Amino acid sequence: MKLRTLGSSSIKVPALTYGSFAIGGTMWGGNEKKDSIQAIHASLEEGITSIDTAPFYGFGLSEEMIGEAIQGRDRSKIQLFTKFGLVWDGSNQQRGKFFFNADQAGTSVPVYKYAAKAQVIKEVEESLQRLQTDYIDLLQLHWPDSSTPISETMEAMELLIQQGKIRAAGVSNYSVSQLEEASRTLDLASNQVSYSLLNRSIESDLIPYAQHNNLGIIAYSPMERGLLSGKYLNNNRLKPDDHRHGYFAQFDLEKVKSLLENLTSLALDKKSSLSQLVLRWTMQQPGITTVLAGARNAAQALENAQATRLDLSSEELTFIQSQVKPLYNSENEAV
Ligand SMILES: NC(=O)c1ccc[n+]([C@@H]2O[C@H](COP(=O)([O-])OP(=O)(O)OC[C@H]3O[C@@H](n4cnc5c(N)ncnc54)[C@H](OP(=O)(O)O)[C@@H]3O)[C@@H](O)[C@H]2O)c1
Repeated sequence: MKLRTLGSSSIKVPALTYGSFAIGGTMWGGNEKKDSIQAIHASLEEGITSIDTAPFYGFGLSEEMIGEAIQGRDRSKIQLFTKFGLVWDGSNQQRGKFFFNADQAGTSVPVYKYAAKAQVIKEVEESLQRLQTDYIDLLQLHWPDSSTPISETMEAMELLIQQGKIRAAGVSNYSVSQLEEASRTLDLASNQVSYSLLNRSIESDLIPYAQHNNLGIIAYSPMERGLLSGKYLNNNRLKPDDHRHGYFAQFDLEKVKSLLENLTSLALDKKSSLSQLVLRWTMQQPGITTVLAGARNAAQALENAQATRLDLSSEELTFIQSQVKPLYNSENEAV
């Protein structure tokens, strides 16, 4: 597998990283543990050695399953990315900024954005335990926390680097101005942001900033949480507690359907699925270091991993671009 360097760090990653949000089950209608572990194993066996997770995914379950799945494997050949700064335990309810209510086994649990120094240190110790490891390759602030000075959060990550608990520090969902402020305290490796054929807003600001400042871009939700596989456009197989009932509603589904119909002949020519075509397009975009692809089971993980072997020519990229163009205005905003 050809590897890419994550920003200014020494971390080398494949163009595709395994994303473990859905296997946590929360917000995704649950998942079978056996399928989750098999998805991780299938990814590793196909050369997808980097894994992205977060304490919030399944309220610790995603990290725990990853910890279990990597036991007995060469840790130095795996890159673990996790996060901090989304807090759901009752004791923190007076701190940080309220974000949203999540469903935990039928109970509504308030989730806060909170990234004070003591919180960062505490969460890393918990993640190390759940992941059954003594270091994290990339630690990321999950969402900006406006109640904590950016410098305080960055100082906490700097300390963790010095202590050898994390190899590199990153952020997620940061704007250019937040990155500029953070860079006054710490040299960040990456920013993890949403990016897909249907959501290209980062092309106008974050991508140029990242290219100019040698910052890695980790693209999340490249298949728009399964929508760009095409399978949800014909019939809705979502469980009642799946957040995608609301998530998919932000898109003009008729336009998405016609886009995917227009891409089908290219997918057939390339002997690929629509998901693979979409993933490979994302991997080949300028400034994108690695693309996070979520998978609930081994079959999805295998299919996604194999997208790294696809190659889209410049003519094919131009063709995709021409099909996507009607979805955006001249400011690159989705219409
Ligand atoms: N930093 C953040 O704020 C943030 C936010 C979101 C995600 N992320 C990260 O990014 C990762 C990827 O994003 P995501 O999981 O939200 O969305 P995604 O990768 O766009 O979509 C993943 C979902 O699509 C479906 N799928 C996957 N492979 C498929 C295939 N080959 N064919 C058909 N369907 C397939 C699966 O769900 P079904 O089978 O149920 O349809 C899967 O759970 C996450 O796992 C997480 O690590 C980060």
